[in-house]
Parts: sequence; C-alpha cells; structure tokens
Amino acid sequence: MSSPTPADAPSGHDHRRGSFSSRSVFILAAIGSAVGLGNIWRFPYVAYENGGGAFLLPYLVALLVAGLPFLLLDYALGHKYRGSAPLSYARAGRRSELIGWWQVGICFVIAVYYAVVIAWALRYTFFSVERAWGSDPGTYFFSSFLRAGDPGVTTDIVPGVAIPLLVVWLVVLLVMALGVQKGIGATAVVFIPLLVLAFLVLVVRSLFLPGALDGLDALFSPQWGALGDTAVWAAAFGQIFFSLSVGFGIMITYASYVGRRTDMTGAGLVVGLSNCSFELLAGIGVFSALGFMARANGVAVDEVVSDGIGLAFVAFPAIINEAPGGAAIGLLFFGSLVFAGITSLISIIEVVISAVRDKFELSRLTATLAVGVPTAVLSLAMFSTTSGIHVLDIVDHFINRFGILLVAVVSMVVLAWALRALPDLADHLNRDGSVPLGVWWRVMLAFVTPSVLALILVQELRAVLDEPYGDYPGWMLGVFGWGGAVAIVVVAFGVARVRWRDTTPLTATEGEFR
Ligand code: ALA
Repeated sequence: MSSPTPADAPSGHDHRRGSFSSRSVFILAAIGSAVGLGNIWRFPYVAYENGGGAFLLPYLVALLVAGLPFLLLDYALGHKYRGSAPLSYARAGRRSELIGWWQVGICFVIAVYYAVVIAWALRYTFFSVERAWGSDPGTYFFSSFLRAGDPGVTTDIVPGVAIPLLVVWLVVLLVMALGVQKGIGATAVVFIPLLVLAFLVLVVRSLFLPGALDGLDALFSPQWGALGDTAVWAAAFGQIFFSLSVGFGIMITYASYVGRRTDMTGAGLVVGLSNCSFELLAGIGVFSALGFMARANGVAVDEVVSDGIGLAFVAFPAIINEAPGGAAIGLLFFGSLVFAGITSLISIIEVVISAVRDKFELSRLTATLAVGVPTAVLSLAMFSTTSGIHVLDIVDHFINRFGILLVAVVSMVVLAWALRALPDLADHLNRDGSVPLGVWWRVMLAFVTPSVLALILVQELRAVLDEPYGDYPGWMLGVFGWGGAVAIVVVAFGVARVRWRDTTPLTATEGEFR
C-alpha cells in the first residue's frame, strides 16, 4: 500500500493526465458543468411540457432518490480510480470498461447537438440589441432563423446557424487544448461568477414584469393528478441526470483530476444544491416571463408557446419586445445561456478526450484534435441544416431515456451486485468526506434507484411503442432515436475490446488508488 500523499499532490500518473489546482477550482468547474443549457433552456420547457406544477414534485424526488446519490457514486469512482470513465470502470472490474465507453458515446452524441443550441444563443445575444426577430418571435425563430421545414433530413446548411456554431467549436477546442487547469479550470473561475451575477439580475428583473405571478403560479401549483403519469416521472429523472451531469461520465472524469485527500462528499452537496438552485431560478425567470406574455396576449400560461424546444427562443424575445429595458434583458439572458453552455460543453467533450487519452496514450493536443474535429464537423453537418431542429428534438429525447437512464441502471446493477463495489467506494469517500455516507447510500444505489429507474424505463418503452414520440415519421425515430441509442452500445462494445496501448494503468494495485 502506498503511503498517504498530501491533499493536492498529484502522482506521476495524475501529472500526465492533468489536475485541478485546488478543490475550489474543481467545485467551480463541476458547477460549470452542471449548470448549463439543461438548466436554462431545457428545464423550463420540459417543466412546461409536463404541466408546469406537475413536474416539480417528481423533479425533487428524482434529485433525492437518484441525482445526489448517483453524483456521489460518480465522484467516488473517478476519485478512487483516477481515470476517465472507461479507465475507472475497468479498474473497478475489468469487464465493466464497456459501461465507460457507453457513457463516452452518450457524451459524444450530446456534444454534437448541445453546441448548436449555444450557437443559437450566441446569435440571439446579438439579435437582442436590434430586436432582429421583429414582432412575431415564434415565426421568426422557426421559419426565418432556423428555416425549419417539415420533419425530414436535408443537407441545406443555414449560414446564420453554421457560422456561430463554428465559433463555438473553435472556442471550445481552444479551451480543451489548454488542458485541465489552464483551460477547463480557468474558464470556470472566470465565467461562473459572471454567470451567477447576470442571472440574478435577470431573474429579479423578470419578477417585476406585469403578469409574472401568473407564470409562477403555473410553475409552483402542484397538480397531484399528474403524479400517476409515468411520462412525467421519466422526464423528471431524465432532467435530473442531464442537469447534474451525472451518469454519463462527466463527474467521474472531473473527480479524477482532484487531489487525493479531498472532501468529495461536501463538494458533491455544494455542486448538487447549486445546480438545482440555479435550475429553479431559471424556472422562475422563464415562467415569470411566460406569465408576462400570457397577460399581454390575454391567454393562459400553458397556451403561450406551442413548441417546447423553442420556448426560450420565443418567450424571451417576446418579452424583450415589450418590456422596458428589453435589450438588456436579452443580452443577460442569451449571454448567460452562452456562458453556461460553454462551461458545460467543455465538460461533455472532456469525457471523450480523456477516455481517448487514457486508452491510446495520446497527448492532450492530439486527442483534442482527434476528438474535436470530427465532432465539430458532424455537429455542423447535422445540426446547422434546415432539418437540424427536428433531429435535435428526437436525439435529445431518446438519449436521455434510452441512453443516460439506461446506462445508469446498468452501472448501478454492475457496481452494486456484480462487483460489490459500493462498500469500498463509500469507505473511500468517507475517509476525507465531511458528509458521512451511511447504509442509506448503499441501499439507495443497490435497490431503490435502479428499481425506480427500471420501472420508469419499462413504462416509457411501452408508451413510446404504443404512441411514437412527436409527429415524426417512423424512419426518423428509427434512425436518430432507436438507431442512435443502439449504435452507441455497439460502438462502445467494439472500443472496449480494443487493446490498451499500455496496460499499466489497468493493473495498478489497489494501494495506488487510495
Ligand atoms: N449538466 C449540463 C446541463 O445542464 C449538461 O446542461
């Protein structure tokens, strides 16, 4: 067994992989990852589509039952085994490397579409100044800006989307090339405080709009009847995993860059609660704005916007048009979306980069280019076209349920039952943690969380087989929904079978993981 090392003294292996300079930088980077489009763009429309008030209770249950326990599981894996997702799983049990690659595949797919929403927001930040969307932001967003046609696939690139998308990818790849501390850590240290400040100003401003309270009423009035609807539960669990960045490799990867003797449980609570506070703040901001729109148009809050995915891009411009100081609201809102999105996108793509680095022993620059260039090209080819929004809607829906939630169930079953790893992982976190993980944590991850998730997934599977998602043609759901979800597993299986360039990391002794 190796002797204990000082808190932030990285070993040789850590040096090669990179590390955060302190626990605070790690916490900021982890908040940067968690707080993203999921909070500002996705949460409000998912809550809106699932009945507003109906959504909050399942959401809070999902946070306690699955989100926080799983966040700590990810931290334990990354921090104990000190590797990317595939390496950490491989160290926990040689054959579970596949789970890590499955998560890497999910991140790759999310990165490809996530970037385009940041690109929309970047463009809209500038549009805010001139109110470029005119008097009908809904029609503008879909018809003039995205030039969206009927569902299908086209190769017609929309330059207004492609150019900002290229800018987003160039910025992200630059950050990735700079490495863990100088790139990821430094970006979080600068952007997260700015983001919090901008968002607080924005939410306070929205709260004073006429009609804001009607919007809040819609968000916070519980609808008990909806608790019987499994689609609402699936949406809530999917949202929690996406939003906390748990279950798809991100927190494993980030935790692997943290000094050994660190309080990870305390950090987990700070990150988890910050993320959910931010999400509720975003919900308050957006629903206040919806209340304002509803009042201005004399309709009910649930009738203001017809298409969920465009909610932020339709509701906010409408407010900017009518509210005093509208341009400033627009700059703050879309600027926040860009900052929050970038700090999350870098964490998503880092999962892929760090996995490739570990397995194939590549330098950071080579891995950044090897991963980043194909991802950026695919992102441009698929999502800056006139059919991009339809494909995005399908991919986002399926990857959440039959990607993130499914791999979460599999990983819990493997870790708890096949490898019986939970006691060791709990011991690892308890050694320096300020929040003790008792039996409750193991009971959650071995029984409660996987059972609840499995139940939701089975119901959800039945529901989509009965009534296919959205109004899309079957072939689109087959290719981009089911096809994508299955392809990730097949590719993960293949990559997991490729030999490691250097097997030393796999055979390191237990003592080296402490
Ligand atoms: N956690 C990130 C988000 O919420 C992926 O957007």
